[in-house]
Parts: sequence; C-alpha cells; structure tokens
Amino acid sequence: MRRPATHSVLAFRPLRNSAAQSLNAPWSRFASSQSQKPRPSSHWIRNSLGFAVTGTAVFLGYSYMADGGMEAWMSRPEVTKREPVDANDLQAQFIQEKRSLKSPGVYTWGSNVYRVVDPGSKDTDIKTPRRFKYFDGQVLRDLKIEEKCGAAITENGDLVQWGKAFSESDFKPTATLTGKNLISLALSESRIIALSSDGTVYSLPISKTAQSTGPKSTESSWVPFWPNQSNLSYRVLNPSLKLGEKVTTISGGLEHVLLLTSSGRVFSAASSTENYPSLGQLGVEGLTWSTRPKGPADTCHEVTALAGSKIVQIACGDYHSLALSKDGRMFGFGDNSFGQLGVDFEPERPFKDAPFLMKVQKLYSRNLYLPKITSIAAGGANTFFSVDVKRILGYEEEAANVHDLGKITTDTWSCGRGIWGTLGNGRWVHLQDSPTKVKALSGVSEYDEKAKQMTPIRIRAMSVGTTHVSAILDNKTNVSKATKDSLDQSKDWGYDVLFWGGNEHFQLGTGKRSNQSKPTYINAPLKTRKLRAKRDCRSCLVTRARSGSAM
Ligand SMILES: *[C@@H]1O[C@H](CO)[C@@H](O)[C@H](O)[C@H]1NC(C)=O
Ligand SMILES: *[C@@H]1O[C@H](CO)[C@@H](O)[C@H](O)[C@H]1NC(C)=O
Ligand SMILES: *[C@@H]1O[C@H](CO)[C@@H](O)[C@H](O)[C@H]1NC(C)=O
Ligand SMILES: *[C@@H]1O[C@H](CO)[C@@H](O)[C@H](O)[C@H]1NC(C)=O
Ligand SMILES: *[C@@H]1O[C@H](CO)[C@@H](O)[C@H](O)[C@H]1NC(C)=O
Repeated sequence: MRRPATHSVLAFRPLRNSAAQSLNAPWSRFASSQSQKPRPSSHWIRNSLGFAVTGTAVFLGYSYMADGGMEAWMSRPEVTKREPVDANDLQAQFIQEKRSLKSPGVYTWGSNVYRVVDPGSKDTDIKTPRRFKYFDGQVLRDLKIEEKCGAAITENGDLVQWGKAFSESDFKPTATLTGKNLISLALSESRIIALSSDGTVYSLPISKTAQSTGPKSTESSWVPFWPNQSNLSYRVLNPSLKLGEKVTTISGGLEHVLLLTSSGRVFSAASSTENYPSLGQLGVEGLTWSTRPKGPADTCHEVTALAGSKIVQIACGDYHSLALSKDGRMFGFGDNSFGQLGVDFEPERPFKDAPFLMKVQKLYSRNLYLPKITSIAAGGANTFFSVDVKRILGYEEEAANVHDLGKITTDTWSCGRGIWGTLGNGRWVHLQDSPTKVKALSGVSEYDEKAKQMTPIRIRAMSVGTTHVSAILDNKTNVSKATKDSLDQSKDWGYDVLFWGGNEHFQLGTGKRSNQSKPTYINAPLKTRKLRAKRDCRSCLVTRARSGSAM
C-alpha cells in the first residue's frame, strides 16, 4: 500500500436505527451456543477476546477494500466482561450490519493541508473520522491517499482524483481515466499506476496539468512520451508476457512499481517522472539509469532472480520491494537503510539490488519449530510479515510427550524504521534490521466452532504508510444457524481493526496527537457513538464479500 503518509480512511456505514439501543447490552458472537450445553472452551475464548484488546492479540495506509471494495466499517461495543448473552443482541447486531451496508461511504481523517482528507474544508487537520461526501452511497474498488493527493477507483472502474497535487485550484474530486474497467491502483511520487480487469497496466501523471498538456518530451522530463489521440496523457506498461498470462496485482513505491502475473512472475518498472529507481528496488542487479536497456525509461524488467519460485504476493515500501513465494519464503530487495529488508544494515552499501531471502528460521528454534511466511506488507521504510509456525518433533523428543505437536501459531514480525512507533513492538528505535515480533498480532487464537478446536487468528489485511500502520484481524467470523434465520445469510461480525505509529497529523484517528508504538483500537465516529448511551464502541470492518482473502 502506498504512503498514506498522513492520512487514514475508513470505509464505513453509519448505523442509524433503533436497534442500536439494544447493542448497549453485552454482546458476543458466541452467544448462539448459549442454549446448548456450554462448551468447555467458551470462557477461554471470551477471555481471549478481552485480552487482545488490552494488548496481546490484518491489514492497511488506507484502502480497506480488499474484496473489490465491498467492505465497510461499523462499530461494536467492546467485549470485556463475561456475562450471559442475550440472543436479541445478536439479532440487533445483524440488523445494524445490514442497514449499514445500505449506505456505504468512506471516512477519512488526518492532514488536510493538501485538501486530501476533506476537499471542501479549510481545516488543516481532521482529527477524527469524517465522512467523505463525494463517495456517499458508493462502494469503491480501490482507494489510496497520500499527503498531497488522493485517487480512487469507483464501482464501475473509473479513476477519480483529488488533492492539491492533482489540481491547485479545483479541489473537487474529478474522474480522469474512465472506461478502462480499472480494479486497483498504486501511487508513485508523480504518477498513478492503474490495473484494469483485463490485466492492462496504465501509467498516468497525477497532475491534472500534466495530464492535459502531455504527451510531450521536455528536457526536464526523461520519459519519452508518445503522442496519443487521447486528450488524457497516459502510457501502457508492457511486460513481456506469455500466452494466457496476465498481470493480476500491482504494488508501488515512490519511484517504482512491481507487477505480479497470473503465473507467479514478477516484473518491475520505473514509475516516476522525477527520479529513476536507483536503490535496487527493481530487483535487477546492476540496473541504473545509465545501464538501463534502450527504450522507454518505464520499460518492464522481469525480476529473473525470482523465476525459480512461484510468487503469490508482492509489496512495496517507498524504496524497497518484497515478494512472497507460494512455499512461504519472502524475498526483499532495494533500500535497507533502516533495516527494512530484515538484514544487517551496512553503511557502505545500504541497499541490495538482487532479491535476498529472509532467513525466517533463525527467528525460531530450528529444532522445534517450522515457520512459513503467509503474508507480507510494506510501506515507507517498514516491512511486516506474518508467519505460521508449526511445532515439530525435536531430535530427542518422543511424540507422546509433546502435547502441542503439530500445533500452528501465527506471529507477525516487523523491521525498518521505528522512530514513530511504526514497528508496533512498543519501542521507539531509529533502525531495526533484525525482525522484531509485534506481540499484539502474534500468538492469538480463537475457537473454531466448525473444526472444534483453537485456530490461530491471522491478519486479513495490513496497510503501511510512511509513519503509520493499520491491520485488520482475520477472525473466523461465523455464528451458528440458530440466529441467522430472520436476517438473510449474514454471517459476518466485522473484523477488528488496529492502528499504530506516527500521529502528528491525527492520522491514527484517536483524536489525539500522541504517537502509538503498539496497535490500538480507535473509537467509532461520533455520529455513531451518540446512539449508544455512554458505552465505548470501537470501529470494525464488515464485508459483503464472504470469501475474501487477505490482501
Ligand atoms: C478477533 O480477535 C481478537 C483477538 O482475539 C478479538 O479481540 C476480537 O474481538 C475478535 N473479533 C471478532 C469479530 O471476533
Ligand atoms: C477530455 O475530453 C473530454 C471530452 O472532450 C472532457 O470532458 C475531459 O475533461 C477532457 N479531459 C482532459 C484531461 O482534458
Ligand atoms: C493512445 O490512446 C489510445 C486510445 O485513445 C489507446 O488505445 C492507446 O493504447 C494509447 N497509447 C498509448 C501509448 O498510451
Ligand atoms: C459458517 O457457518 C456455516 C453454517 O454452519 C458454514 O456453512 C460456513 O461454511 C461457515 N463459514 C466459515 C467461514 O466458517
Ligand atoms: C511523534 O514522533 C515524532 C518522531 O519521533 C516526534 O517528532 C513527535 O514529537 C512525536 N509526537 C509526539 C506527540 O510525541
């Protein structure tokens, strides 16, 4: 996710209905089991819910639309006490969710100096989540905001832009690249890279002026533009694909973009008109502005060092790149000046231009645990990765004596710059070059009613900005059939969302300015909270797409 340097956004649905009243009562999604014989584990689970809130327990800068934009936020009372559960509360929760899905929208907060958070307002800081009026009633496919500009893809695949980097004088969000059925986008320091559903990758200037005066080649611009009949200047990136292969995912940094194809290959390209990526973030050894092959500066290069692995996820920080293979190995390349590659910082050579394998086994006792990376995220000068760790049999152990043999726990690790608390480990350090565990997102589990056992809670999505981060937990949200009858098939309870890191522009949404070095919950928007007597609510995410996977 790209640099939501100073903003956050919540896609959120307001909850205005009488049902909210009964939500004041304690609530639990395990309530439906109340009438049946109590399961031994249920108290344990409830405990762990409250526990996580106080600090032991996936994902996002600031697009929360992992599943084609079908996500929304809602608020929910804290689950802190073990109290008898009333089935009516469950019903109320369902009603609330259903209604909130009917009026989708986007909530934003953080620095508004460049009119990104609330284009219509002259306020420089928006301290708490505020409804973004232009998107009222809309469900978005993607949304990215950074300090000076915002860009979103609407439900019908058009690109909408706003912010002073787009236009100094006209702050109203404006549709620019339309009719291309776009599905996702990445922001570099000067251009937008957008992916269409057929796999075409577009590159266009952020600035409205450059969009209408281009294409042209000036001395100050190194990109050799070709004339085009379109009145909007854009280019198409052309990786050399095989028959039937297409680009499925894009991720970008300040100067570069990575393209992941349907066959697990990775391509990289320059994505800025200001600077050529020269910190190794393209993943091609020896590639610089002066050694680049002939042709346009934004020619795509295959990251051939990764060719032996099927890559399933990619992520970019400002100047570094990550790729995750199907077999759970993570490769990093690019800038390591804050230790963001998870490898020793070397002042004389602070970057790596060839993919480097993260040695995750060294984080665990080799004898007893088998780690496999399951998801990655990057932003600014930070890297995050989640690991499934399986307990295996040690050399001199006997299976009968190892009670947790085969048990899988999930941990989240971070490295890179930590001065704003971005590492999420409770510490404030300048440089962290060996991965450190994010305790709040590690070793958390819940009871899975279907499998009748404890299962780890993984991260559903994570967004990393220059200084701040948010994560959505991927709890197995489900309830038994008993309660769902009157309310369609809704099974979703909403996902927990946590924020941490730099907060100098109120971008964490806590309403205060203090940086947070540990993941924290934020309150639901005021409008919603008023309905709830005095009880504190926290923001959660609900999704309409049931089978969504983590970003
Ligand atoms: C998800 O898990 C966390 C950590 O255990 C817990 O605090 C939270 O209440 C759970 N959310 C849902 C929707 O079950
Ligand atoms: C392109 O042309 C269309 C119609 O001619 C116009 O509505 C649109 O504003 C133009 N876009 C730019 C960037 O000039
Ligand atoms: C030029 O514009 C046309 C449509 O107007 C488009 O099909 C073509 O791909 C564009 N060429 C480039 C290089 O962007
Ligand atoms: C939720 O429960 C229903 C009914 O028991 C089941 O069909 C469905 O697969 C479950 N979903 C998940 C994600 O566990
Ligand atoms: C947040 O962190 C930055 C960087 O260390 C620091 O300059 C700022 O003063 C901190 N803000 C607060 C409120 O502590």
